[in-house]
Amino acid sequence: VVDISTFYKDSGMFTYDPGYTSTASCESKITFIDGENSELRYRGYEITELAGKHSYLDVCHLLMMGRLPSEAESKNFDLEIRHRSFLNEGLIKIFAGFPDGAHPMATMGAATMALSTFYKDHLNLEDEEEFKTMRRRILAKIPTIAAMAYRKSIGTPLIYPDVNRYFTENFLYMLRAYPGGNMKYLGDGQNEEIKQVEVDALDAILTLHADHEQNASTTTVRNVGSTEAHPYVSIASGIAALWGSAHGGANEKVMDQLKLIGDVKNVPTYIAKAKDRNDPFRLMGFGHRVYKNRDPRAEVLKGLQDKLKEELNLDSKLLDVAAAVEKAALNDDYFKDRGLYPNIDFYSGVILTALKIPVEMFTPIFVIGRIPGWISQWSELKQDPKHKIARPRQLYTGN
Ligand code: ACO
Repeated sequence: VVDISTFYKDSGMFTYDPGYTSTASCESKITFIDGENSELRYRGYEITELAGKHSYLDVCHLLMMGRLPSEAESKNFDLEIRHRSFLNEGLIKIFAGFPDGAHPMATMGAATMALSTFYKDHLNLEDEEEFKTMRRRILAKIPTIAAMAYRKSIGTPLIYPDVNRYFTENFLYMLRAYPGGNMKYLGDGQNEEIKQVEVDALDAILTLHADHEQNASTTTVRNVGSTEAHPYVSIASGIAALWGSAHGGANEKVMDQLKLIGDVKNVPTYIAKAKDRNDPFRLMGFGHRVYKNRDPRAEVLKGLQDKLKEELNLDSKLLDVAAAVEKAALNDDYFKDRGLYPNIDFYSGVILTALKIPVEMFTPIFVIGRIPGWISQWSELKQDPKHKIARPRQLYTGN
């Protein structure tokens, strides 16, 4: 029998940190979070200065290039992204093989992984143009992949991007248009042209999701990137990590939960379930690893929700249930003692529903929003001369 504690003693400094709650795995200049004081900054800009005040694509430029674009740069960036939004016909054929009813996150992950078969050149980091193109290509193609994944899931013919539309509008168009690209169907007139207020609301939501330092999916992108895997494979791994209900999948679960609660009168029952330590039920959209105070993104969304209430005809019954849940939790010692506040996912669902976005597309929208963050973090890793393969240790407790 060997006393393994001697081994750990001899290994120098050795920390045991499940979930990495207090371990920094990298240095980064991209995003700053102060969880105690509800602060979030991208490249030094407070989130409140960006969401709804700059276009999402300008924020992507900020994250990916390190600064907000000039007017001319903004225009060129926008044009380039529009033109790169098409998918190779071979990739489109891959969608046909997936069954109707597949979750769009599953199809998106597979299609993003498959991008590495079409752009298989091993990335030469010395070639600045190649490096830039790779990053812009993925940003441009993900909304098309997301929209096609959705259309495939409901068995509707796929729609190609429309270069005459801005990024966010183009995504809404690819989701909503009738087969062939018509926004209006003679006779019902249901699918009207996309309203500017809808584009602006979704643009702000995407900005709020654009980066969030070393969360589970970004850490996954960095870990896979650290093995020198293909960049698109690293991004596909981020999609996989984001799908879980403890992370990006929570926005879908919030909506399911609000519908399950159904009425203001049922709120106390569900609050009691969430507090019961013998019941695995959790209040979805509450709590955060870093924010032990209010989530600043949730605050911006709450403001947006109030603003859009009339304009987008938000579902007032769901809003009432959400407000009652929020009020009950914020006044309850269980939630107060643990620093559990509503997070970004608690508010996005009601707005996304008013944008006629189906629940199963909530997490794919989170993916679209998070792409510039993943790309920037992956690039930062690659450009860091100190970067090493991610390889944590363990505390062995077996025989
Ligand atoms: N409802 C009820 N209790 C909760 C909740 C919740 N939503 N979240 C945490 N708790 C409780 C835990 O049971 C635990 O209680 P205990 O101390 O009595 O054991 C305590 O609060 C701490 O919880 P942890 O799970 O240890 O906190 P952690 O920081 O690891 O987890 C997480 C954070 C995963 C976000 C968690 O709060 C959660 O599961 N929330 C619901 C899912 C959700 O909304 N996820 C979205 C996160 S934001 C994002 O990804 C964009």
